[in-house]
Amino acid sequence: MTNHDAIMTRKSRRKFVSQPLSAEEKEVLLSAIKQGNKAGSLSMQLVENKPELFGGFFRSYGLFVGVEHFIVMAGPKKDIHLAEKLGYYGEKVLLEAVKLGLGTCWVGGSFNKQGVNSLVSVDDLLIAVIVIGEPVNKYTAREQLIRSITHLKKEQQSKFFQTDGSEPSWFMQAIDYVYRAPSAVNQQPVWMNVASGKITARLRNINHFAWVDLGIAKAHFEYAAPSGRFEWGNNAFFHQ
Ligand SMILES: Cc1cc2nc3c(=O)[nH]c(=O)nc-3n(C[C@H](O)[C@H](O)[C@H](O)COP(=O)(O)O)c2cc1C
Repeated sequence: MTNHDAIMTRKSRRKFVSQPLSAEEKEVLLSAIKQGNKAGSLSMQLVENKPELFGGFFRSYGLFVGVEHFIVMAGPKKDIHLAEKLGYYGEKVLLEAVKLGLGTCWVGGSFNKQGVNSLVSVDDLLIAVIVIGEPVNKYTAREQLIRSITHLKKEQQSKFFQTDGSEPSWFMQAIDYVYRAPSAVNQQPVWMNVASGKITARLRNINHFAWVDLGIAKAHFEYAAPSGRFEWGNNAFFHQ
């Protein structure tokens, strides 16, 4: 599966079957985590076979059932771009999991914060987790219901950008990738602007997880670009 396929097919999954990660899955995930940690000076960590730390395998915790494995999204408290960096590098790890055929979901709210925090160093801040695992075959009625509720507000794709006509040829592909990115409560707060050939990423509203959403959206956008990177921050430039 390519990055394109992963972005096009990814949907959050919230019910998993009990199955350990294979050696190959573990190797791919650990390598992506290591790369992200090095590039962003972060402390993401893979947690396997620890349902009790998320909330318990048999009991549903919040909207989730059967979570045994997850990735802790944490990093230095003193990093002012921490949440955005975790969004950016965490989404890259998440898409590797999708490419392996695993189910995934960012979780900011409903997990055992005390349990997961016991794994986080005192100088680090826990922002969220990404649950991963073998999803049940079919989307459950509950999963479909959650999706229909959170997607009520789904915006028109045309509202995700503003341009003066100076955008590069691959820009609409990048907008499509941003449109398909996960975001907290599906708020989709990130819009792209193009003026005189310069691209910026803008938060149109700032909620609790907006900075994580911004990092995720920038990662998705860059998958469509032949080269280049966004700076960190709101209204930051994309450098080709
Ligand atoms: C930062 C962040 C936090 C999230 N927290 C939760 C959560 O606590 N519970 C949950 O069920 N989904 C959570 N989600 C998943 C979103 O609800 C989901 O990405 C959004 O509704 C879009 O649906 P999709 O991922 O299937 O495209 C979170 C997503 C992000 C990016």
